[in-house]
Amino acid sequence: MNKEKIRDKIMKLKKEKNAVILAHNYQIGEVQDVADYIGDSLGLSQTAAKVDAKIIVFCGVHFMAETAKILAPDKTILIPDERAGCPMADMITASELRQWKKNYPESKVVCYVNTTAEVKAECDICCTSSNAVKVVNSLNADEILFAPDKNLAAYVARHTKKKIIPWDGYCYVHRYIKARDIREKRNLHPGGEVWVHPECLREVIDLADKVLSTGKMVQEARKTTKKEIIVGTESGIIYRMKKENPAKNFYPARDVAFCFNMKKIDLRKVLRSLENMVYKVEVPLEVSQKARGAIEKMVKI
Ligand code: 13P
Ligand code: SF4
Repeated sequence: MNKEKIRDKIMKLKKEKNAVILAHNYQIGEVQDVADYIGDSLGLSQTAAKVDAKIIVFCGVHFMAETAKILAPDKTILIPDERAGCPMADMITASELRQWKKNYPESKVVCYVNTTAEVKAECDICCTSSNAVKVVNSLNADEILFAPDKNLAAYVARHTKKKIIPWDGYCYVHRYIKARDIREKRNLHPGGEVWVHPECLREVIDLADKVLSTGKMVQEARKTTKKEIIVGTESGIIYRMKKENPAKNFYPARDVAFCFNMKKIDLRKVLRSLENMVYKVEVPLEVSQKARGAIEKMVKI
């Protein structure tokens, strides 16, 4: 079946089943093109809770689909490829977090949304890449355990008076973007601006003009008067930025900044997901309720 036929079938099934498709900014173009909503990790989960549809095909990685299920427990959340996980989210388990907390009884625990539901259930509050500093500063404690991303933790530490104790996790996609990549791209596009995600290494962040979450990058791309932007995050986002801003040029900071898990989903798998109602994302009630508390605290801030 060619792509056009698959797309038509997806559109028809979406209507018949009253389903919506949500896609993360890093998804491949053909998936973004059939999505009803495209966004960052938290924005998509909040959309999942708000939309009328009972069935949501979540095109992203597992922790994102799980967060959607936590915020929308009555809806059917499907992920088109159940192996689409986030290696960084898997760098800390709930039992490791429980053990870690025991060593710091006075500290509060902040978990990045890039964590499993079990880990979220063990923390005081969640954060995203766009509100991490705000979340940390809102807490009534001088010492904060921050998991799992040590690079985001280091970024937060530079913007707060609190002591940040990081877990030793990282995102391999952002870690491979190096300072020399930024310097090279600046030489190639001297009038351009450099925007990077806070999961990047400190030396990369130091060379950037702006540090932004994926959601903020998309917003900023619409607003900026700059015509050339060097983008320091997973390159899938450039498809959306270019589509929405055809007169501007977006260059990946590193040519191969691919999250292989994000790329596991394609048009055929989206169709299979809708046809066969696979793969259902479930979160045990007790875990879901606790994790939801940590997410909702963040949303209030
Ligand atoms: P955002 O929350 O900015 O979409 O980032 C998610 C992610 O996985 C970054 O690598
Ligand atoms: Fe996880 Fe990094 Fe992929 Fe984001 S880009 S989903 S943090 S591995």
